[in-house]
Parts: sequence; C-alpha cells; structure tokens
Amino acid sequence: MVRAASKPPGSATPVTPAAGPEAPVVAIDGPSGSGKSTVARRVAQRLGFRYLDTGAMYRALTWQALDRRIDLEDGAALAELAERARIEPGTNPRRPTIVIDGTNVSVPIRSRAVTNAVSAVSAVPAVRAALVRRQRELIADGGIVVEGRDIGTTVAPGAPLKIFLTASSEARAARRHRQLASVGDAAAEQDTRAEIDRRDARDSTRAASPLAQAADAVVVDSTARTVDAVVGEVLAAARRRGLAPRRSPRPARAARTSQADGGAA
Ligand code: DC
Repeated sequence: MVRAASKPPGSATPVTPAAGPEAPVVAIDGPSGSGKSTVARRVAQRLGFRYLDTGAMYRALTWQALDRRIDLEDGAALAELAERARIEPGTNPRRPTIVIDGTNVSVPIRSRAVTNAVSAVSAVPAVRAALVRRQRELIADGGIVVEGRDIGTTVAPGAPLKIFLTASSEARAARRHRQLASVGDAAAEQDTRAEIDRRDARDSTRAASPLAQAADAVVVDSTARTVDAVVGEVLAAARRRGLAPRRSPRPARAARTSQADGGAA
C-alpha cells in the first residue's frame, strides 16, 4: 500500500488567513460519493456564486506526481512539487476545469490511477499547507461554494454556511459505480465499494486535517433523495443565513433531474 512519509519538510509554511465570517462562502464537506459535486455546482448556480472543487486540486497534484514518476512515499518530493506547482482551477460552476503548470488535466484527474493514489498525496501535511494557502487565495473575495473534506474545519472555519453532506455507504458506492461505468470503467460494484471504503478510511484517519464534520455544520443526508431535494435543503439553509434571496429563481430546465445520483463525488 502507498503510504506518505511521516515527517515531510515545510509543514510550517505560513498560510493566508482563513476567509472571515463575513465572506459569503458556502463550505460543503463530506465523503466520496455523497453528492458533493453535483449539489455544490447546482447551489453555486442558484446563488450566482463561483465554485471551487478542492479535491480536483489534490487530484491535479497527484496526476503530476504520477506523470513525473515521483515516489508517493517521498513526502519531501511531494511537498516540493506542491510548493512549485501552479494550480489554476476554473471556478465556473457550469464548466469547472483544472490546469496545472499550463496543462489542462480536467479529464485525466478522474482516472482510476489518480483516484487510487490521491489519498497518499493529500495526507502529506506540507502538501496540504500549500494547497490550503492557494484555496484561501481563491476564496478570499467570497461569493463561492467550496467543496472538499476540511473546508468547514480548516480552509474556511469562518464560513457562514457549512454543510456536511453524507449518504449510506451502499448509496455512495452505487453512485461511484455508475459514474465509472458512464466513462467506460466498469469495475465490479463490490470492488468500487471496497475502494471507496478504503479511501474514506484513509481520508478520515490521516493526522493532517482529516475528513471531519464542523461542530456548526448542517448535516444533510442524500441517501435516496433527489438532487433537487438536497439542493433545496441547502438553499433553505443559505436563505436562513442571508446568503440567498428569500425567493430564489426557479431552477433552469437543464438543472432538473429525478435522482440524486448524477455522478457526484
Ligand atoms: O472529492 P474527491 O474524491 O475528488 O477528492 C480527492 C481526494 O482528495 C480524496 O481522497 C480526499 C482528498 N481531499 C482532501 O484531502 N481534502 C480536500 N479538501 C478535498 C479532497
């Protein structure tokens, strides 16, 4: 199994202060397959906010590490990569993209090779420090929905709205399986479930800002619920915090689907 080095250098890198409580940031955290991407993008569109997928940033760095054949147990090398890489996420919720050092990696970051390696890369404290610093630059002006694992606890602890989106392990595995099958990567469903469980265990037990629910997060369970129902619950919470108009506009036709399994991570 791939493990990150225990004490990489540079973990004390200074980070930009977190967005203040007044910055309109919606933090959406949760495990793989809980529906974060689909929900976060829809919520951003409805609020007229930008959208930041922090998982895509860890994936982009992982893609580069694999491309350069860096030893994933070499925390120092991964830390150096994170310090030097220029990661540029496109924050349009209708068409999010991610570019690293001039290469658009929006598609290859979803490969199974990257998916299986990303937990090791994202567990390195100095990697996290570098990426959290970049995430804070991107969200400093507010007006953004940010999805990840540590947004409400570490990246933007002052966010006025924090959502912890969850779903049963079966529902999450089934969604991931359908998502993989739709891109022609049809693993057996039980293998997908084992992979998801392994990645969740690693993301939740790592020492550096693990997947965790903020004390003041609103917990939303997406199991067996439609995307519209989940988005509606998040928008209602946004309205209660003054982040959305009392009467939000009707959803665009294209935004309506019947199931909450539109391929969310
Ligand atoms: O959401 P995702 O599956 O694209 O995330 C990819 C990996 O990155 C996942 O294994 C957890 C990690 N991650 C993280 O550690 N912190 C974040 N804020 C976002 C993702």
